[in-house]
Amino acid sequence: MVKNHGLAGIVVDETKISSTKNAHLIYVGYPIEEIAQASFEEVVFLLWYKHLPKQTELVAFRQDLVNKMVLPAETIRLLLYIAKEPQHPMSILRTTTSLLGTTNDVEHDEPPKILAKMLTAIAAIIRIRDNEPLMEIDPDLGVVENFLLMMTGKKPSKRLAKMFSTVMILHADHEFNASTFTARVAASTLTDYYSCLTAAVCALKGPLHGGANERVFEMLETIQQQQIDPLKYLQDQLKAKRKIMGFGHRIYKDGDPRARILKQIAAELVQTTDNQVYYQLQIKIADYMFARFNLHPNVDYYTALIYHCIGLEKETFTMIFAACRTVGWLAHIMEQRQEGSLIRPSSVYIGPTGRHYLRRVGDHNE
Ligand SMILES: CC(C)(COP(=O)(O)OP(=O)(O)OC[C@H]1O[C@@H](n2cnc3c(N)ncnc32)[C@H](O)[C@@H]1OP(=O)(O)O)[C@@H](O)C(=O)NCCC(=O)NCCS
Repeated sequence: MVKNHGLAGIVVDETKISSTKNAHLIYVGYPIEEIAQASFEEVVFLLWYKHLPKQTELVAFRQDLVNKMVLPAETIRLLLYIAKEPQHPMSILRTTTSLLGTTNDVEHDEPPKILAKMLTAIAAIIRIRDNEPLMEIDPDLGVVENFLLMMTGKKPSKRLAKMFSTVMILHADHEFNASTFTARVAASTLTDYYSCLTAAVCALKGPLHGGANERVFEMLETIQQQQIDPLKYLQDQLKAKRKIMGFGHRIYKDGDPRARILKQIAAELVQTTDNQVYYQLQIKIADYMFARFNLHPNVDYYTALIYHCIGLEKETFTMIFAACRTVGWLAHIMEQRQEGSLIRPSSVYIGPTGRHYLRRVGDHNE
């Protein structure tokens, strides 16, 4: 029996959605470096239906998604209440995802409607937290533009929408990562879509998974605001046996291909938003981590700065990850449902054996 930590290297199933084989990320056969140039809606279509849409299909698919980016009145009424609570936004999202699955009309909700509702709900949580009025969709804009509009209250420039679309594509799927596997385990019991998504949100929330992006920015802010020497900060963290957030990966030991693209986007965005100081700091930290430990930035590292440049609060970063990853979660839930087998692995029992229970004298609990 080979001892295995965290199922590393264990193949648990087959998938036609994405692959990280040989540390190359592909979506349904397309290298991430190429498919990141597509439109967000094209990539959603690809991951769900396993081929790129024809132009007419794409236009119809985009319009359908945008039209569905509307929440039922009863969901908004409850959201206005829940999202004002002081809990972490990911806790609010966990409850909200579950809530989306409890309104009257959801029994027949299919992935396009579910994705559209998730995006709108996430944007609404951000607006409510900021004490800003909720925004309506603009039917003339695409999904990404509408998502940005509903989060920030401003119609994005074409350039910003394109960059954010790339960010969303890069986060859309990543084969059997922890939250996706969680969604698949739930789906394997044939539970409903919203239950699977709620489980996935719970797994994504953790700092070793989606929660890392928030902590990356926390680190940058601490170093910058307290004027700490960055290398001393890193050394102190490592001495205290703390991981440096945004570095390392289970699969990409020689660098995360998504981080390379995200670095370019961050470099461009900091120019127009006066955030160069954070970018320079990130470069310094990355150089040290590579030289000293051969560790590379992962998907969360530059994304944290990108979200900051867009004007988002760090506490909401992981929700944006959830918005993007909902695409992949839904693809995997559909695939798992088609497969139709229950995921139920085995374990090696290492607890005590050979014990015997003797009834206590005077125990009358019968
Ligand atoms: C992502 C992560 C969980 C991958 O873990 P993993 O594949 O199990 O790799 P390990 O934790 O076994 O790391 C291997 C070695 O590198 C070190 N290492 C890995 N990531 C590190 C980090 N971010 N900071 C410091 N050291 C790190 C480990 O301490 C370990 O060292 P050791 O062999 O001396 O014990 C891990 O790199 C991590 O915790 N990163 C920080 C959180 C993060 O950014 N998560 C987002 C992932 S996309």
